[in-house]
Amino acid sequence: MNLQLRTASLQLTTMSSTQQGRGKIGIIGSGLIGRSWAMIFVSAGYRVTIFDVKESQLTGAMVDISNQLAELQKSGLLRGTLTPEQQKALISVTSDLKEAVTGSLHVQECVPENEELKKKVFSEVEQHASDETVLCSSVSCIVPSKIFAHLSRRGQCIVAHPVNPPYYCPLVEIVPSPWTEQAIVSRTRALLEEVGQVPVTVKKEIDGFALNRMQYAIVNEAWRLVADGVMSVEDVDKVFTAGLGMRYAFCGPFEVIHLNAEGTASYLERYGSTIHRVTSTFGPLPQFTGPAYDAIVRDTDAHYPLDKLQEIRQWRDTRLTALAKLKKDQEAQKPH
Ligand SMILES: NC(=O)c1ccc[n+]([C@@H]2O[C@H](COP(=O)([O-])OP(=O)(O)OC[C@H]3O[C@@H](n4cnc5c(N)ncnc54)[C@H](O)[C@@H]3O)[C@@H](O)[C@H]2O)c1
Repeated sequence: MNLQLRTASLQLTTMSSTQQGRGKIGIIGSGLIGRSWAMIFVSAGYRVTIFDVKESQLTGAMVDISNQLAELQKSGLLRGTLTPEQQKALISVTSDLKEAVTGSLHVQECVPENEELKKKVFSEVEQHASDETVLCSSVSCIVPSKIFAHLSRRGQCIVAHPVNPPYYCPLVEIVPSPWTEQAIVSRTRALLEEVGQVPVTVKKEIDGFALNRMQYAIVNEAWRLVADGVMSVEDVDKVFTAGLGMRYAFCGPFEVIHLNAEGTASYLERYGSTIHRVTSTFGPLPQFTGPAYDAIVRDTDAHYPLDKLQEIRQWRDTRLTALAKLKKDQEAQKPH
């Protein structure tokens, strides 16, 4: 065994013996999100078994993950201390759901966003789970009680909603249902922190969770600014890429207001009534129809041509990779 491999293997052994709970993770669904979760868990030394109903998806997932791990190694962004080969060796695929679930300490469901499908999948998953298994959904926009209500193991069920692409955008919204045991919330949060994600807890169920509620508030106002003839589509996007987004990559909205005056109290004293005055002019919720729809679809298609979407996505992911690297380098230096 060469030195690099031996060192990594020793690190893995050390991690296994010192970090409680390291073991097997089951992933249900091997699409975009299932593949990302698999890469995140193996980067921390967990063994991952991926199940999918389509064999071709499983084959594609292994090729894709292998390519992605090699690229990450080249760009210096591979997570963890294991080599791409060692990480890949921790992944297995199966067409047998029981094999993916049995013995797993955490099962991450990543099937398409469909309430009935998710309910059916969890009914099957819980039959193979033990009392020690956390049953977790990647669902984006369905509240957990709708998916988990019928389950006998609903106390062990929780949502962990990632942000795409999860390898570079580490936020995960943890959303318990009304039946989720507190120990399951704590275990899920600890596991996600351990594998390098940034979990936040949505303490009670709410439609859209937190990320999409904030995103939709922005989409609504962006829409109104264009629909009301205040600004072009191109300039609205620049408000973010050259303005708000620059700050928000490093500071959240509360930190921004705190820093923009001498603390939050001082900011609210100066600007609280202004925020109230301006937001009271926001107007009704857009219906996303009519002449504004035609104009916004036309302009977004013109600025970001539909036949170039794949190239633009690749460009975006490269920029996100660079930003992730910058944040990793900078965050340790932030004064507290
Ligand atoms: N794509 C995103 O940006 C994103 C972000 C956060 C959360 N999510 C959520 O993650 C989940 C998965 O999304 P995705 O983008 O990976 O979807 P996807 O369509 O890329 O992959 C879904 C996979 O599930 C498989 N599948 C279908 N039925 C199955 C079953 N019964 N059992 C096992 N596998 C089955 C499919 O074959 C496919 O491989 C959705 O709930 C989605 O809302 C997606």
